[in-house]
Amino acid sequence: MDSSLNSLLAPVLADHPPAPGALLPLLHALQERAGHVPPEAVQAIAEHLNLSRAEVHGVISYYHFFRKAPAGRTVLQICRAEACQARGAESLLAHAEQRLACASHSTRADGAVTVEPVYCLGLCASSPALMLNDSVHARMNAAKLDALLEKEGL
Ligand code: FES
Repeated sequence: MDSSLNSLLAPVLADHPPAPGALLPLLHALQERAGHVPPEAVQAIAEHLNLSRAEVHGVISYYHFFRKAPAGRTVLQICRAEACQARGAESLLAHAEQRLACASHSTRADGAVTVEPVYCLGLCASSPALMLNDSVHARMNAAKLDALLEKEGL
């Protein structure tokens, strides 16, 4: 593990001593600090919590929230849960993927943008909803999304 990853990981491990249920809070803290959960950290996390690497890897893979690579400079998260799906989330996501030339669950090669599906932003009554960086937007459509992306230079 390189020293920059070690300096990110060491305080997170120190804050999360081995205990039942420690893995998820630890992963959240690491992603908050590092922007993602680096695959190189899995071994150290597993040893720290007395888990197998497969157990740690399984949790990271199960929860879409955890990124295995750094995100783009702009992060677009489009809700695909039930209420949003019923009101056009799938076509909104397809529009975003086409406009940004970036598939869902991925970051564009130039690092400008990451597109991610999410499952409920708590705005179901005002669906479809999305989050652009840290701002939530409700009652979205393709034209409104285009206007938001233009402001981001995308
Ligand atoms: S279903 Fe999309 S915000 Fe709840």
